Amino acid sequence: MFWTFIAVTVCYYTLNLSLGGPIVNYCQFPCSKKVQHTICELKHNCEVSSRCKRFTNLPLTEQEKQEVIDTHNTLRNRIALGIGCRSIDGKLYPKAAAMRELVWDDELEFQAQCWANQCLLQHDRCRRKYDGQYIGQNLAWTAEESLTTTLHRFFDECVNLSVARINRYIYNKKFKTGHFTQFIWWNTSQIGCARAHYVRPNHTYTRVFLGCNYAHQGNIVGLEIYPRGEPCSQCPVGTKCHKKYRGLCTTKPSTSDVPYICRFAANKSRCVPYLSLRGGVSLLDETAVVGERHLHELPFLKAGKVKNAWEETLYFLWSIYFIFTVCKEVKINNRYQYY
Ligand SMILES: *[C@@H]1O[C@H](CO)[C@@H](O)[C@H](O)[C@H]1NC(C)=O
Ligand SMILES: *[C@@H]1O[C@H](CO)[C@@H](O)[C@H](O)[C@H]1NC(C)=O
Ligand SMILES: *[C@@H]1O[C@H](CO)[C@@H](O)[C@H](O)[C@H]1NC(C)=O
Ligand SMILES: *[C@@H]1O[C@H](CO)[C@@H](O)[C@H](O)[C@H]1NC(C)=O
Repeated sequence: MFWTFIAVTVCYYTLNLSLGGPIVNYCQFPCSKKVQHTICELKHNCEVSSRCKRFTNLPLTEQEKQEVIDTHNTLRNRIALGIGCRSIDGKLYPKAAAMRELVWDDELEFQAQCWANQCLLQHDRCRRKYDGQYIGQNLAWTAEESLTTTLHRFFDECVNLSVARINRYIYNKKFKTGHFTQFIWWNTSQIGCARAHYVRPNHTYTRVFLGCNYAHQGNIVGLEIYPRGEPCSQCPVGTKCHKKYRGLCTTKPSTSDVPYICRFAANKSRCVPYLSLRGGVSLLDETAVVGERHLHELPFLKAGKVKNAWEETLYFLWSIYFIFTVCKEVKINNRYQYY
């Protein structure tokens, strides 16, 4: 037990220190044999791509994040209460028995930022959170306009959907309503968005890109967009009716153990730059991906620094040994895995 503990700890610490690779490895979450996770395909390098022209990052401020959440929740609430929008059939959308409140999620924001930095005019192909769940996505390229206006553009597609589709989502090529259906998907409860300003490939003028990632993913063919019924009558276990948005079921604040790339984090207080753990010497670039909570949970790291030369040598020898023998086998928390 003791030795396992030492092995796990040393493994974890050493790999991070010596290999310089990301602590977080999205490559373990491909979407199929051929389609890797976007961030794996980017080799965990989320730097702004060389194809980007006149690029400026405009990460959302705390206030703007609140605006994104409020706009979504207000409109989701209106749909849930049966006063949201008139469909293509001329009828109001029916009430929703379970419609989740949306909360901000840093990991979704981070993945959206990685994608924003690629300046491509399409969705990325494989998005999953670090707990494995799939992620939905709405993208927009607009002239300068308020966030709320852009978000309303997603929602306004409601006029082109038939009420019958609420029971069973199907993809409709003719009427593009996918932004709307992701917007109001009942089981979606987290959102994270990124914004940037750049010249799109094959264009000459700049546009504002807004990319929002959603979890759980919506727009799953064959599933209901939301269950009909009295608002809050079928809230999922562990949730209750929201006090402010009376048609929504509550969501707990997100506790993603954020695989952060510090350089892109708007709020760096959640980043643990590599090696700040080790006396503050920064050998590696701060683009290190760090799952903060997990680092702190490891008592060895919490205890702090390697104290003297003797310890350092012993630690070094252990490291070599464990890298080649034990590390391959070790799983931490069933979630962090190295090879
Ligand atoms: C509804 O669909 C029509 C036909 O495809 C399209 O011209 C119109 O812009 C759509 N309305 C919205 C709000 O998306
Ligand atoms: C919500 O959706 C996810 C994935 O689509 C699923 O795993 C989960 O069970 C759903 N939650 C409920 C309460 O149905
Ligand atoms: C830009 O235009 C070229 C030539 O028309 C085309 O081959 C290329 O796919 C376009 N790029 C994008 C991103 O649309
Ligand atoms: C940054 O995050 C920390 C912890 O999550 C929070 O206490 C702090 O208020 C945030 N700072 C800003 C500027 O948002």
